Parts: sequence; C-alpha cells; structure tokens
Amino acid sequence: MRRLLVTGGAGFIGSNFVHHVISNSDDHVTVLDKLTYAGNRSSLDGIPDDRLTFVQGDIADAALVDELFRSADAVVHYAAESHNDNSLHDPRPFLDTNIIGTYTLLEAARRHGTRLHHISTDEVYGDLELDDPDRFTESTPYNPSSPYSSTKAGSDLLVRAWVRSFGVRATISNCSNNYGPYQHVEKFIPRQITNVVRGIRPKLYGAGENVRDWIHADDHSSAVLRILEAGEIGETYLIGADGERNNKEVVELILTLMGQDAAAYDHVTDRAGHDLRYAIDSTKLRTELGWAPRYSDFEAGLAATIDWYRTHEDWWAPSKDGVEAFYASKGQ
Ligand code: NAD
Ligand code: TYD
Repeated sequence: MRRLLVTGGAGFIGSNFVHHVISNSDDHVTVLDKLTYAGNRSSLDGIPDDRLTFVQGDIADAALVDELFRSADAVVHYAAESHNDNSLHDPRPFLDTNIIGTYTLLEAARRHGTRLHHISTDEVYGDLELDDPDRFTESTPYNPSSPYSSTKAGSDLLVRAWVRSFGVRATISNCSNNYGPYQHVEKFIPRQITNVVRGIRPKLYGAGENVRDWIHADDHSSAVLRILEAGEIGETYLIGADGERNNKEVVELILTLMGQDAAAYDHVTDRAGHDLRYAIDSTKLRTELGWAPRYSDFEAGLAATIDWYRTHEDWWAPSKDGVEAFYASKGQ
C-alpha cells in the first residue's frame, strides 16, 4: 500500500484520478484541495473512509504542505486554476496557484525527497494550424497564448529546474482536453450538455472551427498511474488518445445524441487569443511505457458523459446559473 497525496483531488480530473486509484490499487489517498468554486467535495462521495483523507487547504500554504509531505510516499499535483476564460477576466489567482502553489510543492518535495508527478496541459505548446501535418511532441517549443497556459508553462519550467538544480524526483505530463463525469459546467462539453437539459441553445465561440484533441478523463488517469510507476525522473510524457474534433462537430454530436436538431445552436463572441488547434503525438508514452487508452470511441464516451449529467443534476445545478450569467455578461 502506497500513501498518495493528490492535490486538486476534488476537481474534475483529480477526482476522476482518485476514483481510478481507489478502484485499481490498494493505495491510500490524501486529497489536498482548497475547494475553490471549481472544487466539489461530493465528487469524492462513495469512497470508503479508510481509503481517503480529505484536507481542505491551499497548496501555497507552506506549513500545511510540509506536514502533508511528511506522510506521503508520492504526490500527484493536479491543483490549478484551469479555465482560460477566467484567466482572461482575472489572471491573478492563476499566478498564485499555478506558479506559487507549484513552487511551494517543489520546495517540500526537495526537503523531503518525495516523488512528485506534475500534471500539465498541451496548451503550453501554443496552437497548430488546421492543416499542419505535425502534432505536439515532447520536443515542441513552449509558446503559450493565455494567462492560463502561460502559468502552466511557468509551472512546468519550475519543475524542470527543481529536477536539474536540486535533484527533485519529478516527472511531468502534458495532456490534451479531457471529458467525462465531474467536469465543471463552465467548460465546453458540460456547458453545452447542461444547456440542452435546461432548454438553452448551445453556444459556439466564433465559427467553431477550433480543434481540440479529446481524451476521456479515465484514460488520463491510467496514463498518470503508469508514469508514476515506470516514468523516468526528469522526463516529460505527452498524453493523448487521437481524438481530434472541431468544436462545431462536437456541438452537433451532443445535440444529435440528446435527440435535438443538430443545427439548434448559437454562434457567440469568440474568445480573445483563441488557440486554433491542439493535437498530441503520444508515441513516447505508448512505446516506452506501454500505455494505451481504453476509450477509443469518442461518440460512446460522450453518450455516457451525457447520461452522467442527465442523472446528476443535483451535482451541477448549483453552479449553472452563475456560470451562464458570467458568460452572458461577455456576450458568450
Ligand atoms: P478543475 O478546475 O476542475 O479543478 C481544480 C481543482 O484544484 C479544484 O478542486 C480546486 O478547488 C483545486 N484548487 C485550485 N486552487 C487550489 C489551491 N490553491 N490549493 C489547493 N487546491 C486548489 O481543473 P481540472 O480540469 O480538473 O484540471 C486539473 C489539472 O489538469 C490542472 O493542473 C490542469 O491544468 C490540468 N489539465 C486539464 C485539462 C482539461 O481538459 N481540463 C487537460 C490537461 C491538463
Ligand atoms: P474549454 O472547455 O474551455 O477548454 P480549452 O480552452 O482548455 O480548450 O473549451 C474547449 C473549446 O470550446 C475551446 O476551443 C473554446 C470552445 N468553447 C465554445 O465554443 N463555447 C463555450 O461555451 C466554451 C466554454 C468553450
């Protein structure tokens, strides 16, 4: 039995990871989560008390972090401010959590010699042209566009520097866009599903030609566990499942799967600096660590996600009106 400390474990991908670990190992998990607007304690409901300890707190709180690192065999770091649109509105929390928070964890890892895995995003690489034959690889230069992606890029660089300068035992993964249960309704897929449930027309930024490379959150979790087991210290691994789709296709698929007219959506004001296309080449992870995704059928995964939102309205309803009021104030 390992004792894992998971930061941001009450968020979307972190909570999926905690459920994955509980189902696939005998590890004990301690979650450190600030429970910002994006965190939800109930996303961890159903996990037995003897497998999970929940601590509400800030990853930038050095004393608390130090205490938790004392009893952790390994740390998986998901906590972040994660939404591009929020980062355009108010960048400060992104610097506090993504940069200072990660720095605080790295210092604790350095003091205690703790193994750390840092979760990051493909958005650190900027964007690709629609017709570019290349995809992102581990050697693509960093070129982030938004306050969100630039603070994630900064956090990755801190991890690399702490490995090289102080011998911290860390790995990094950069994953593409996730979908699945427990994702906040501010994000694209849950926003559109819950709009349809509420009788609101889905909202597509601009022309909807932007491409995202979708992966199910459970596949992200299995990749992270694999890197924790077999990843080489100091290495970066890209995680992706060959799921490129443009936003228009995704909205139309959601509408069709929910029994609506596929054209029943609105075009709204585009995002400032909107990245055009992300695409991941995950050859290194697949060949060196033998990982493969389980959810190869995006349509089936999306249908299951729609079912989850339909049957968990009590989970998302408290956030829905506030999110829509925020978007409406920006013409989105
Ligand atoms: P999320 O916004 O759903 O969850 C973030 C969690 O972190 C929340 O529970 C929140 O309460 C917590 N948190 C925020 N600030 C904190 C702080 N200072 N101290 C402690 N906890 C804090 O985010 P997500 O979509 O689950 O993303 C998780 C990680 O995965 C992030 O690092 C993100 O950059 C990365 N990532 C996300 C995606 C995606 O598609 N969502 C893709 C690739 C990588
Ligand atoms: P999002 O889920 O915010 O993820 P990211 O910005 O990290 O890719 O958005 C995914 C895509 O969907 C992105 O191209 C922006 C677009 N989008 C919309 O078209 N409408 C929306 O209501 C939202 C929230 C996003």
